Amino acid sequence: MDWISPRRLNRLGMLNMNRRNVDYIARYNERSSYPLVDNKLKTKLAVAEYGVTTPRLLQVVRQQHEISHFREMAEGLGGFAIKPAKGSGGKGITVITGRDDDYYIKASGTRIAAPDLERHLTNILAGLYSLAGSPDVAIVENLVESAPSLAKFSYQGVPDIRIVVFQGYPVMAMLRLATKDSDGKANLHQGAVGVGLDIGTGRSLNAVQFNRPITLHPDTGLALENIDIEAWEDMLEMAARCYEATGLGYMGVDLVVDANEGPLLLELNARPGLAIQMANGRGLLPRLRNIESLKRPHFTPRERANYVMDAFGAL
Ligand SMILES: Nc1ncnc2c1ncn2[C@@H]1O[C@H](COP(=O)(O)OP(=O)(O)O)[C@@H](O)[C@H]1O
Ligand SMILES: [Mg+2]
Repeated sequence: MDWISPRRLNRLGMLNMNRRNVDYIARYNERSSYPLVDNKLKTKLAVAEYGVTTPRLLQVVRQQHEISHFREMAEGLGGFAIKPAKGSGGKGITVITGRDDDYYIKASGTRIAAPDLERHLTNILAGLYSLAGSPDVAIVENLVESAPSLAKFSYQGVPDIRIVVFQGYPVMAMLRLATKDSDGKANLHQGAVGVGLDIGTGRSLNAVQFNRPITLHPDTGLALENIDIEAWEDMLEMAARCYEATGLGYMGVDLVVDANEGPLLLELNARPGLAIQMANGRGLLPRLRNIESLKRPHFTPRERANYVMDAFGAL
């Protein structure tokens, strides 16, 4: 990371790891809510009751013998994603976009033989990708097809939008774009690009890759300065709703925009990273303090979305 003096970080109101853990995560997140967000299957089921949509669930593979059902089901599918319910950081996720005889085609364009994909399911069940190596289940869900206006910025992968939600208020946002390095996934530490978004409008601010400032996408070559997320207010409202669904006071909400279905929730994170501040060129602290000092918090997700657009917009 380019070195920035502690004094400058302070002036920008940057939240550091220690403060995040002590003053926000420990104080505002109930431990009992963690299992809900650390398991993508549980998350899917929990948020559905609150009007938050996720990519359609096609199959849950819980046991080895169910892999034969997967084989039959996958016959008729165009694209899908396989993921470990308890995975994180993009590990163990295989995104399949098509079929070529006995091979599946991955988002990166490489082919994977059917038996290898089935072996991948076996590995997921064995806990190869789960947080503590404990046995897991595999989720097969519908392929998200990104809206073209956004997809063109990303290299072979669905871009996602990370929104930090504090006490139900979406306080900061960033767009993450897949790169050659990140293999069709939008995870920053795997080399995805992070683009800060103006919370007031959904337009791009700064961009970073590996925590360094950039202006062009390294693979698509497109300028990252004029990106504009559609239906921004709806996205903020959807993120805000995840607060009612989970009770988590401090979390990362990851959304995607599907070409047909609109905004969908991909996953929730109870310990969201701090790089979003680098992508925004702004710190989280002033916004978190603003929300903490509200005398009369807003009741509905829509009101909270409107509040942040007004209070934290770049203009
Ligand atoms: N259903 C899907 N269709 C297409 N791409 C997906 C799908 N699910 C996940 N991805 C890609 O994989 C990345 C990681 O998925 P995610 O559900 O966020 O898991 P993780 O906890 O490992 O980050 C996403 O950012 C996205 O780029
Ligand atoms: Mg993710």
